[in-house]
Amino acid sequence: MNDRTDFVVPDITTRKNAGLSHDPRDFTLPQPLDRYTAEDHATWAALYRRQSELLPGRACREFMDGLDKLGVDADRVPDFERLNQRLGAATGWRIVAVPGLIPDDVFFEHLANRRFPVTWWLREPHQLDYLQEPDVFHDLFGHVPLLIDPVFADYLQAYGKGGMKAKDLGYLTQLARLYWYTVEFGLIRTAEGMRIYGAGILSSKSESVYCLDSASPNRVGFGLQRLMRTRYRIDTFQKTYFVIDSFQQLFDATAPDFTPIYHQVDAMPTLGAGEVAAEDLVYQTGNREGWADTEDV
Ligand code: PHE
Ligand code: CO
Repeated sequence: MNDRTDFVVPDITTRKNAGLSHDPRDFTLPQPLDRYTAEDHATWAALYRRQSELLPGRACREFMDGLDKLGVDADRVPDFERLNQRLGAATGWRIVAVPGLIPDDVFFEHLANRRFPVTWWLREPHQLDYLQEPDVFHDLFGHVPLLIDPVFADYLQAYGKGGMKAKDLGYLTQLARLYWYTVEFGLIRTAEGMRIYGAGILSSKSESVYCLDSASPNRVGFGLQRLMRTRYRIDTFQKTYFVIDSFQQLFDATAPDFTPIYHQVDAMPTLGAGEVAAEDLVYQTGNREGWADTEDV
């Protein structure tokens, strides 16, 4: 869930992958199923239980349906190949095991080909609430269920295709902001109320509550250029959540060629993570309580 433009290999990734090797071209490896310990399976079960108790009524219906239709295991780290049978049948996506964060161009190439890279290893028991880099719980539980939604599935592939272009044009920062505020931290308006679809929220117990219930953050309507101009936080809860009306809205808004849009955005001022702009459609202006005064990314 980190900003993939900043590619460093965290210690835990190095430790978990000791003695394993990945394909140097696409960073994939066979999921090392025999490396999961009883403790890992118990940690997965604890994380799964917490989120599955919390998310009904908070996560969007498409996510809850995906969890169910994919048959994501409640009691053990899922076998990727078993999951792929249902995922592939639903939308043609599949998941591939990777050692951890991978370089941007490799990431984009996977998405563009409907492959979602999933970190194979799981956090330690003392990291139930937070870890800095994505693990299998974040990547799989958080991201994969929505891939059975046809529109979201197409959006993520389109993002991958757009990645290379953004890189060549020098606008990876702007594209990464779009990913952050949609795929990782997006909210969606439904007939039943506001719901979560961002994986960074869905895999976090505390943010699953905070994003919808807290008076601190801003909640404002999605706007493509607005998102591309907005810095974000990687060390705290988000200061602003962007709300879409539907996955179709997201797909349609991001379908045009971004080349001219990047240039327009470039000419406009950047916005801080907690700023509310005059033209925003505001669902909530945050009261800013508890906001750390550390720097936005
Ligand atoms: N339409 C975008 C482009 O031309 C590609 C894209 C689609 C990027 C969806 C992000 C999300 O660059
Ligand atoms: Co993520």
